[in-house]
Amino acid sequence: MEQPRDQWATKLGLILAMAGNAIGLGNFWRFPYQAAKFGGGAFMIPYFAALFLLGIPVMWIEWVEGRYGGKYGHGTLGPTFYLMARESVKPKTAVIFGMIGGMLAFSVTSLLNGYYLHIVGWSAAYTYFSATGAYMNATSTYDFFVSYIKNTPQVLVFWAISVGLLGIAVAQGVSKGIERWVKVMMPLLYVAAILLVIRSLTLGSPVKPEWSSIKGFEYLWEPRFSDVTWESALAAAGQIFFTLSLGMGIIQNYASYLGPEDDVALSGLATVSLNEFAEVILGGSIAIPIAFAYLGEEGIKAGVGLAYLALPNVFMNMVGGRFFGAVWFLLLWFAGFTSAIAMYNYLTALLEEDLKINRRVGSAIIFVLYFIIGLPIALDKTLLLLTDLDMWVGSYLLVVLGLFDIIVGVWLFKPENFWEELHKGAYIKLPKWIMPIIKYIAPAYVLVLLGKNTADYLTNGTITMSQKYLEYLVNEEALISTTVEYARKIVMESRAIIIFVLIIGALEAYMAIKKKYGEELEKNEVIIRV
Ligand code: PHE
Repeated sequence: MEQPRDQWATKLGLILAMAGNAIGLGNFWRFPYQAAKFGGGAFMIPYFAALFLLGIPVMWIEWVEGRYGGKYGHGTLGPTFYLMARESVKPKTAVIFGMIGGMLAFSVTSLLNGYYLHIVGWSAAYTYFSATGAYMNATSTYDFFVSYIKNTPQVLVFWAISVGLLGIAVAQGVSKGIERWVKVMMPLLYVAAILLVIRSLTLGSPVKPEWSSIKGFEYLWEPRFSDVTWESALAAAGQIFFTLSLGMGIIQNYASYLGPEDDVALSGLATVSLNEFAEVILGGSIAIPIAFAYLGEEGIKAGVGLAYLALPNVFMNMVGGRFFGAVWFLLLWFAGFTSAIAMYNYLTALLEEDLKINRRVGSAIIFVLYFIIGLPIALDKTLLLLTDLDMWVGSYLLVVLGLFDIIVGVWLFKPENFWEELHKGAYIKLPKWIMPIIKYIAPAYVLVLLGKNTADYLTNGTITMSQKYLEYLVNEEALISTTVEYARKIVMESRAIIIFVLIIGALEAYMAIKKKYGEELEKNEVIIRV
């Protein structure tokens, strides 16, 4: 007799875990610089369009998928997609969809987290550096960052502390581990964010009269309609995917620990609302206004480097800078930690369910796996590998998986079944007009997004690795001077890793499905139903 599957102990714990899953570095670091770059206040038009037409529908789809898979004992996408697809197609065809889902989710949870965990590690390091005042007298925060990145043992220590703690939380289980940890971390995250918002609002003009945090708000929110282009519409949709943790397999994984009659309709909306509050209201009120008050418009042009390069510069000059610096990086650390835990749990669940490896051992194996994946990333001082993986896995594969979410969870599962599942145990009744959005508009949106991205990649050369793309990587991202030859080598390495992981993911999914539904595949008809 198998052990009953773990379930969330409390509604509050579930919602905080889901919010922790969604609220991550994307909210506090990625969102503000995207908004500033793509039209300020006007960016909110494509942003909210993508939220309503894409984000919320896919969020519901993923909750429904997860709870459905959980009913059969699965928290991974291979078997879940198989089970849903077989409602329309024969098991032998359904298994292909299972393999695609399993492959994409496995790649995202291993590779995206492979580099994300390093940024989580940097946040731990910078919390420490802020509290001890390590960079307070640095001549340049840029040089400080580079010398930190070059110090591999130090990088690995902060990485290991973070990932070790993650491993412990995951090993303790869902209700006894993850749920307990997020119940402490999420309230602290909100407190830290609110403290920083207050600090940001009360800064005045510490350096120059024409620089102030309020001017920073103006800069961020002033609508610049001319900056809203195709580009920004794509960036907005990409941001929605990233920030809501969609197309990764981890919303489904968390939802798989629901009871079959637990609400998903309202809970999905609650997750979105908590995330958007943390993104638009809190995320938008911290990094940019603070940086603007001290560094002016030039300071916030730092883009990607805003969090780790520009803000330390600010804390150096701020009264109480050590304290607020530590609060800022602790905020990033909590945000990253409570997201990364979902990815970690996905892979642990995969070992637990498909290979029957006990959770504690599984969690230790995943620690080693992340170490192996993370090592080349840590050793690459140029951050090229991280950048290339982020481009492919963190921006592209997510959207591909999002498309299959809709194909499998709505179309193959059948729209009427989907609607019924969405309302099973629901606290709210959704209006009928939402269905055409879910059925037609969301997939059309994803297709356009994917098409445009692919075309961009073809012309700019991320697929063909043109000289232009390599120069872009080298110029924009490299921290030490490097040659195009070196970049070419790294990019080749990155491609090889991605393809290898995709293949492993597909094979794993096939094996998992075959093991449990082998008879169905042989007879090519549905046998197992719960
Ligand atoms: N939603 C998360 C964020 O905003 C995305 C994420 C989840 C990234 C898990 C990595 C790991 O950061």
